Amino acid sequence: KMESYNEKNIIFIGFMGVGKTTVGQIVAEKLSRPFIDIDNEIEKAFNKSIPDIFAEDGEAAFREKERELMRQHCLDRLKVISIGGGAFQNEEIRKICMDHAIVIFLDISWESWRERMDSLVDTRPVLQNSTDDEIKDLFYRRKAVYAEHHLRIDSDEQSSEEIADYVTKELK
Ligand code: S3P
Repeated sequence: KMESYNEKNIIFIGFMGVGKTTVGQIVAEKLSRPFIDIDNEIEKAFNKSIPDIFAEDGEAAFREKERELMRQHCLDRLKVISIGGGAFQNEEIRKICMDHAIVIFLDISWESWRERMDSLVDTRPVLQNSTDDEIKDLFYRRKAVYAEHHLRIDSDEQSSEEIADYVTKELK
């Protein structure tokens, strides 16, 4: 069981489209905590969609805002927070997460994720203009970084409801 979750944020990490937002929302509701989706906060800050931010302002501006919002939301406690798949790759963000939160890694196999990929491409600029091999490479490079976490959950054969149930039981 996780000891000190009562004093900490809960942060969901994992690759694009794995269900961090959906699971985070359900867990927040179950624990009666506020839910924050960092991607959504970034879109509000720029007042445009993520593909438009990447196209018009560039990825660097997106990442800068991501770090700023992580500092803002993750240093206090008792929220449930979902972050974009790339955020945890940044060392400062990783440290904020590991120090101030229970970090939950939603894991998925390459094979299961590959089946979802086509439905994600339009809204995920990181996946655009890349070959399958490049995306597979990105998947495994990121997986190596997600290895730093407090709790890992296999999301291959579980619904978001089942995952959320499991998380709240583990934390209690
Ligand atoms: C990104 C993941 C996206 C979003 C942006 C960049 C990434 O979030 O932050 O498109 O670099 O992996 P999801 O993980 O919610 O898709």
